[in-house]
Amino acid sequence: MAFTLEEVVPWGRTFSEYVSMFALSSQDLEMDILGVADGPASFNAEATAQGVKVLSVDPLYSYKASEIEERISRTKSTVIEQIQSNESEFSWVTFSSIDELVQAREYAMQLFIDDFTSEQSKVRYLSSSLPSLPFAEQEFGLSLCSHFLFLYSSQHNINFHMESIKEMCRVSNQVRIFPILELGSLESRHLSTVRKELASDGYDTELVQVPYEVQRGGNQMLRVQRA
Ligand SMILES: C[S@@+](CC[C@H](N)C(=O)[O-])C[C@H]1O[C@@H](n2cnc3c(N)ncnc32)[C@H](O)[C@@H]1O
Repeated sequence: MAFTLEEVVPWGRTFSEYVSMFALSSQDLEMDILGVADGPASFNAEATAQGVKVLSVDPLYSYKASEIEERISRTKSTVIEQIQSNESEFSWVTFSSIDELVQAREYAMQLFIDDFTSEQSKVRYLSSSLPSLPFAEQEFGLSLCSHFLFLYSSQHNINFHMESIKEMCRVSNQVRIFPILELGSLESRHLSTVRKELASDGYDTELVQVPYEVQRGGNQMLRVQRA
């Protein structure tokens, strides 16, 4: 099915959030990193400014910066209203208030738009969609997937999750996925089956506690690598 901008509610996270969500060490940041479903996050822009090598993939990148920016401003108030009406599903540990959370998102998305608009960023943002990636085996040290797999468990079935995770493992030495919760702050309905199937297909998986929590109880990432 073709991807359209109307399906996305752009909502991007910062480099420091990625560092916390994925417990990224300075050694991790020396690897070639693939950011999968990076959307309007500022991870790539900020990482690049610090000399970290990141390539981001997302079907959103087939759109122009002006179109993405327009979609961000059209959907922002709805997102804020949804957070306000579901406040009990959030933990105010990483951010102390809705205002602080929204400020971080606005900061991230502005940095992304500025970077995405620049000519020299073209090689760092590629339009591509899971479950298949246009890369050779083990081209990256690390693949990160923030707020796409597991989060949208009601839209994407177990097969999509298995194919996507194995594809990220094909192109990188290690895969990290955050969060392991779906919308509503419940553990993903696919998590335990995905872990069992990955184990029987020869992959090691580990749940790692991380210093980041925005969805209530969402402070674990899944680490996957070939056994
Ligand atoms: C909630 S956003 C997360 C953005 C970013 N990773 C972050 O945490 O700030 C989810 C992203 O998934 C992207 N997406 C949707 N379908 C996808 C697919 N099949 N493969 C890769 N990314 C996809 C959307 O375009 C959107 O940018």
